[in-house]
Amino acid sequence: MRPSQLLLFVAASTVQAQLRPNNETICDFYSKLLLGASNATTQLTLLTLLVNTAVIGNYTQPNHNAVPGILAKDATFNGTKVNLVPYFSGALKSTNVGKDHGVAVNFLDGGGAAPLAESKPANSLASHQGILLTKLYSYFGVLLACSDIGKEGFPAYNGETSMYTTHKYMALDSYEVGYFIEQVGLAAASFGVEAADVTLVGYTLQGYFGNKCAKPTSVMDKWKKEQQSICITDDCPDASGAVCDAYPKVVEPAANGTESHSDMTSPASAGNGTAAPTAAGKNAGATLQVSLALTTLMAGVLAFLLT
Ligand code: HEM
Ligand SMILES: *[C@@H]1O[C@H](CO)[C@@H](O)[C@H](O)[C@H]1NC(C)=O
Ligand SMILES: *[C@@H]1O[C@H](CO)[C@@H](O)[C@H](O)[C@H]1NC(C)=O
Ligand SMILES: *[C@@H]1O[C@H](CO)[C@@H](O)[C@H](O)[C@H]1NC(C)=O
Ligand SMILES: *[C@@H]1O[C@H](CO)[C@@H](O)[C@H](O)[C@H]1NC(C)=O
Ligand SMILES: *[C@@H]1O[C@H](CO)[C@@H](O)[C@H](O)[C@H]1NC(C)=O
Ligand SMILES: *[C@@H]1O[C@H](CO)[C@@H](O)[C@H](O)[C@H]1NC(C)=O
Repeated sequence: MRPSQLLLFVAASTVQAQLRPNNETICDFYSKLLLGASNATTQLTLLTLLVNTAVIGNYTQPNHNAVPGILAKDATFNGTKVNLVPYFSGALKSTNVGKDHGVAVNFLDGGGAAPLAESKPANSLASHQGILLTKLYSYFGVLLACSDIGKEGFPAYNGETSMYTTHKYMALDSYEVGYFIEQVGLAAASFGVEAADVTLVGYTLQGYFGNKCAKPTSVMDKWKKEQQSICITDDCPDASGAVCDAYPKVVEPAANGTESHSDMTSPASAGNGTAAPTAAGKNAGATLQVSLALTTLMAGVLAFLLT
């Protein structure tokens, strides 16, 4: 079976007609509905389809809506240009490898988009890309409450459990995080996940990661409580009970090949066509004190669902 045909046997009308019962998780319910059964193998397949589609844009058929993808170069969120590519391509020193500053890492070193379009994480599992994508399948599997994660066929998440720690040197703003979350929502919607569940996924991501200064918490009870804010610049909405003093000062990532962690020089000069969000974009965001309301955040997603 060609990966792009994985979903083919599901009649779109079936998906529309069935609502998820309260006692089944999003992961388990849609594994069964879309892939015929809920077990470790199908749950991993569901998460692979979801993450790969969110990253590179829609590639499976049939689908309910287009997904531009996290790696889209001409993306916008709420009217502001967004380009997340430099964080993945190694153009920015934005990866936390445990030092006191970010390091440039190429996360597209396992073949880039091509293997993702074949529903694989990478051509080589040992590449940065292979390791990252494999972790994302498991982490998002935890968020969507896959019941068979950790069993044979769907490895438990073994990465960093503080999302702040992982993303701190990226200095992500509300547009960047909003765009990322929107792509996850659009990817789910493209498979026929019902609007209420798409909204729930969006709320979950926004709630844990989309507000600045969030108090320590964990997405799994057995994990320790840690800082989870991924959106950390001034324009990000405050988490409820925000503890901003507990978060270090935000440092903008420098372009690879430059020495300073300059906040005056825009990283937009990084690499060639892979401009980071411009200083203008970030400043525009900084004037926006309005909370990144989820109604607005998910409006793009819902617009697709309601048409
Ligand atoms: C909003 C929800 C998000 C979630 C739940 C999330 C989750 C994760 C997870 C689980 C990892 C792997 C951590 C590890 O290696 O131990 C990761 C890494 C990464 N994420 Fe995110 N992420 C989110 C948003 C973003 C955004 C908005 C960007 C923007 C570019 C981004 C860029 C990256 C990059 C470049 C890495 C690799 C860094 C590394 O391995 O150290 N993420 N993310
Ligand atoms: C959920 O509840 C329904 C009806 O009460 C039951 O038939 C079904 O087996 C339950 N599913 C799970 C996963 O417990
Ligand atoms: C999971 O379900 C699929 C589809 O029904 C089936 O082909 C596969 O053998 C099952 N795998 C396990 C581990 O039960
Ligand atoms: C993406 O989705 C849109 C809208 O359904 C469709 O027109 C387009 O062909 C899809 N692209 C791919 C590569 O599947
Ligand atoms: C960062 O720049 C250095 C110096 O030009 C180069 O050797 C290295 O390959 C670059 N790293 C990435 C991930 O592109
Ligand atoms: C810059 O981008 C152009 C067009 O995408 C490409 O042909 C060229 O090789 C790139 N230059 C460098 C230095 O990466
Ligand atoms: C979106 O942009 C409009 C006008 O540019 C602004 O009024 C609104 O608050 C923004 N919404 C979000 C969620 O950023």
